[in-house]
Amino acid sequence: MSLTYQQSKLVKDTVPILREHGERISTIFYRTMLSEHPELNDYFNTVNQKNGRQPRALTAVILSFAANINNMSELVPKFERMCNKHCSLGIKPQHYEIVGKYLLQAFGDVLGPAMTPQVQEAWTKAYWVLAKMLIGREAQLYKDFESWTSWRPFKIDRIVPESEEIVSFYLVPKDGKRLPRFLPGQYLSVQIQVPGGHLQSRQYSLSEAWREDYYRISVKRDEGSQYANSVSKSYFNPGIVSNILINYMTVGSVISVSHPAGEFFLDSNNDSNVPLVLVSAGVGVTPMVAIANSALATQPDRQISWVQGSRRVIPFEEHVASLKRKGRNFRTKIFKSHPSEGDVAGVSYDYDCRIDLSKLSPEDIFLQHGGAEYYICGPEQFMLEASQYLASQGVRSSRIKLELFTTGELAAKQG
Ligand SMILES: Cc1cc2nc3c(=O)[nH]c(=O)nc-3n(C[C@H](O)[C@H](O)[C@H](O)COP(=O)(O)OP(=O)(O)OC[C@H]3O[C@@H](n4cnc5c(N)ncnc54)[C@H](O)[C@@H]3O)c2cc1C
Ligand code: HEM
Repeated sequence: MSLTYQQSKLVKDTVPILREHGERISTIFYRTMLSEHPELNDYFNTVNQKNGRQPRALTAVILSFAANINNMSELVPKFERMCNKHCSLGIKPQHYEIVGKYLLQAFGDVLGPAMTPQVQEAWTKAYWVLAKMLIGREAQLYKDFESWTSWRPFKIDRIVPESEEIVSFYLVPKDGKRLPRFLPGQYLSVQIQVPGGHLQSRQYSLSEAWREDYYRISVKRDEGSQYANSVSKSYFNPGIVSNILINYMTVGSVISVSHPAGEFFLDSNNDSNVPLVLVSAGVGVTPMVAIANSALATQPDRQISWVQGSRRVIPFEEHVASLKRKGRNFRTKIFKSHPSEGDVAGVSYDYDCRIDLSKLSPEDIFLQHGGAEYYICGPEQFMLEASQYLASQGVRSSRIKLELFTTGELAAKQG
């Protein structure tokens, strides 16, 4: 299946023009594929189709794979995120046939006469080299999932508000069986029927360390975008799934859930004792709660620095305060951009601004240690700024883990 020298050259030579027409490829590819295979609409996030994030991400991976076809080792770690996402959504090997067909057709449309039979053959081989790597990794992940490789019905057992806009759902499997372990930081996908539309799936980080009887997720209501200069709050395009979960699901409702997955996790099987720095903003706190709970339970001697930012109400505030009271190795720094009247500086928060790591002392976040591990989750721009600050302080990128709550790579990394 490997490409000849001539074939890899043909593939590489066409990458620049395909890259230049990336948007056109994505549009043609998805339009034809989804109209001829409407059943695939149940897999794709309709919003990421409209805003182009997912098509862009897929095309970017294929083109960067093709451009580096003789030097793939660097790319392989980057596959983890998409393979985990694919498995969380139930993507199977047969789907690769369909995607390959329409993607190569779209390449043909863009290349026109330059898509000679030789170029077509070379691209078909290149696509399948990549597809086979992904299918292989996904087969391993599905094997780890054991018998739970598809959607499983879960009952909502408890609903608990965590802040003005974040609500926790306690999910118990309808079959009553013991739940498999996951690594703290991982997510699951939830699939629901959207009124008048297709099935839609979204990922939610598990916000509690593993337990055998329930999984907990904590969902932020996505109100949508606010009208510019609007005095009365008006929003458009409110988030589909988060609003259905929060507005319509009640205790006893049943939702479909996939096996936990994800490459952003604390390896709790590893006995590393380096300090952990957990930095989160807004709803990005959810995987951090699972990581902190898990680390405190299994590695109580490990130093943890908890850095959290929010507007007014700190989600999980009571819980974090109790971890601080109990864990002698657990320290916190809280940023509130809009403290309320009852807030007391130094007690309920430390800084009255948006989260900014440069305001902290090096000891607060173990910069002097040289081996600390940093986990960051929150809005994209915040994560970029936080990781850039850490890099400027000499923290190697291998010690910084980022969890993006949208599809694709961090914008600044894409370029
Ligand atoms: C790994 C991972 C973990 C996650 N963990 C969590 C978690 O723990 N908690 C949590 O709350 N979320 C989490 N998320 C995010 C979650 O998956 C959803 O993306 C989020 O709930 C919004 O989904 P939605 O269906 O409500 O919004 P969507 O309907 O998907 O809309 C998303 C955004 O797009 C905007 N939009 C919609 N249509 C348009 C349009 N036509 N034009 C312009 N803008 C538009 C909406 O206003 C909205 O802001 C996670 C995501 C990932 C990838
Ligand atoms: C070589 C083939 C493929 C490549 C390179 C690829 C690439 C990607 C990438 C980069 C992402 C974004 C991951 C993230 O950042 O969250 C993604 C997500 C996704 N992929 Fe694939 N993919 C391939 C095949 C497939 C196939 C065969 C299907 C099934 C029809 C599929 C369905 C999806 C879906 C549903 C998502 C999530 C979309 C979203 O959340 O917006 N992909 N893929």
